Amino acid sequence: MPPGRRSDCRSRLRSRDPVAASQGGESAGSLAAFLAELTAFREAAAAALQGVADDAALEQARVEFLGARSGRLKAVQKLLSGLGTSDRPAAGRHFNEAKEAVTALLAAAQERLAAAAATPSAGAVDVTLPGESVRLGHVHPITQTIRQVQEIMARLGFESVDGPEVEDQWHNFEALAIPAAHPARDPLDNFYLAVARGADPLLLRSQTSTVQIRVMEGRKPPVRIVSLGRVYRPDTADATHYPMFHQVEGLLVEEGTTMAHLKSVLRQLASSFLGGDVRVRFRPSFFPFTEPSVEFDMEWGGRWIEMGGAGMVDPAVLDAVGYDPATVSGFAFGLGVERIAARRYGVADIRDFYRNDVRFLRQF
Ligand code: FA5
Repeated sequence: MPPGRRSDCRSRLRSRDPVAASQGGESAGSLAAFLAELTAFREAAAAALQGVADDAALEQARVEFLGARSGRLKAVQKLLSGLGTSDRPAAGRHFNEAKEAVTALLAAAQERLAAAAATPSAGAVDVTLPGESVRLGHVHPITQTIRQVQEIMARLGFESVDGPEVEDQWHNFEALAIPAAHPARDPLDNFYLAVARGADPLLLRSQTSTVQIRVMEGRKPPVRIVSLGRVYRPDTADATHYPMFHQVEGLLVEEGTTMAHLKSVLRQLASSFLGGDVRVRFRPSFFPFTEPSVEFDMEWGGRWIEMGGAGMVDPAVLDAVGYDPATVSGFAFGLGVERIAARRYGVADIRDFYRNDVRFLRQF
């Protein structure tokens, strides 16, 4: 065997492949070579354990360096038997030190991974922090009032119906016995639509009494309806007026209907809406489409409060929609939603409902 080849063989013992070294057939290796193997083992284990980034890599490193069957420590251990007897105690001590050092490095790497798992990284969701509360809106106080009135009236047997906000002359005036020359039809008191000028100009309805006519035209008595919606008048806005506001319209047409029925329905409505036993008072008034006509007040908080207009449906109106005034009679009433909402909530100025200041609206 050429010399070079032999020296190659020897160098394998000092190489960092302890398995190859242990199988090399040398009878007594040198202590220096053994210690070099041990140092190489420690350095390789330290580098590998420092770099592990997850549990799987940690387990792989454990098996590679400390694995009981074919770990690299096991391979170095096999070299011990190839040392001379006098070298073995020192070699054994170094071996144990290396084993403890690598075991400690493994434990440290394990702790490092566990600590990293417990600390949320930037951008991760920390489920233990209190959540950010979402700000919930709610229904506007005027819509709340409308729904409450609809619900109270439903319990009294009144069906809720809607009508158009753009009306013709017939439904807003004529069928309600408001003739062409009546001052209520004055252009200064109504929002007529410029696009529809002509023989029958359209307008934004000035009252919800229009719905009485539309309902009676479409069905036969008995009729029990309530209609809540927007109406428009060119009134100057102040604490009790707004150019756009809402009205409640109630209509009941049946045989034998009297003012007593009207009063008890209004009393029920007032008591349910305002709370407590609310008294109702009639004062004589005039509306072209009711006869007799009244303004009605409600007593609440020790004061009489004006709420709206009402009366028995005028026979001329029943006639206009094809009902027989000799067999049926009815009552109708109308009141302002903003005004009753303001009374109930203690709001001094109805313009506050439309300023859209959330500090005000949040209170309801
Ligand atoms: C009417 O509009 C009649 N249609 C009511 C009626 C119905 C009478 C059925 C008979 C039978 P009046 O114009 O008074 O009536 O208005 C009714 C209510 O609307 C008033 O009592 C008031 O509460 C409210 N109101 C009137 N104008 C305004 C306004 N500019 N802003 C806010 N509320 C108003």
